[in-house]
Amino acid sequence: MKSLVVYDSVFGNTEEVARAVAGVLATGGEVAMKRPEEASAADLEGVELLVVASPTRAFRATPATISFIKQLAPDALHRVRVAAFDTRIDVEKIDKRFLSFMVKTFGYAAGPIAKALQKKGGSPAAEPAGFLVGDKEGPLVDGERERAEEWARALIEG
Ligand SMILES: Cc1cc2nc3c(=O)[nH]c(=O)nc-3n(C[C@H](O)[C@H](O)[C@H](O)COP(=O)(O)O)c2cc1C
Repeated sequence: MKSLVVYDSVFGNTEEVARAVAGVLATGGEVAMKRPEEASAADLEGVELLVVASPTRAFRATPATISFIKQLAPDALHRVRVAAFDTRIDVEKIDKRFLSFMVKTFGYAAGPIAKALQKKGGSPAAEPAGFLVGDKEGPLVDGERERAEEWARALIEG
């Protein structure tokens, strides 16, 4: 199975998870990793599984991630299995009540990414996932890398 992981990352945490996911996908075939600014429809040639990942910033994916999906043709992901994940702040660690409320209300990047991929014809390979960082710049919360690897294994088995 040929896979493509398109990931954005500001502080490196989403990249770390993307590398862990790609490592698992590599056990099932060829894998390429691309930043959204560098990825285009040409990279989808022969791809059976597309994973798109972004840090959650202001309740959504990064502009580069959104633009990458937007520029794809309406049926670009026809016959491609798609999955999305984000990284996000552990809400338990946010001490400002208002911010905690906002995060819970306005949500995260992965769900809208998954929806946008399906709008381009992709069929969902997994539920959108979120992996936790302890603070804005990280690090990943203990166990999250392993949880991501488990999520990735289900992508191959599915
Ligand atoms: C400007 C900014 C906005 C953010 N907004 C959110 C948010 O709405 N919800 C959330 O859970 N985390 C938010 N975060 C935390 C990011 O999700 C965190 O920085 C990211 O997971 C780190 O991933 P990266 O190292 O790949 O950039 C924000 C961080 C920054 C710097």
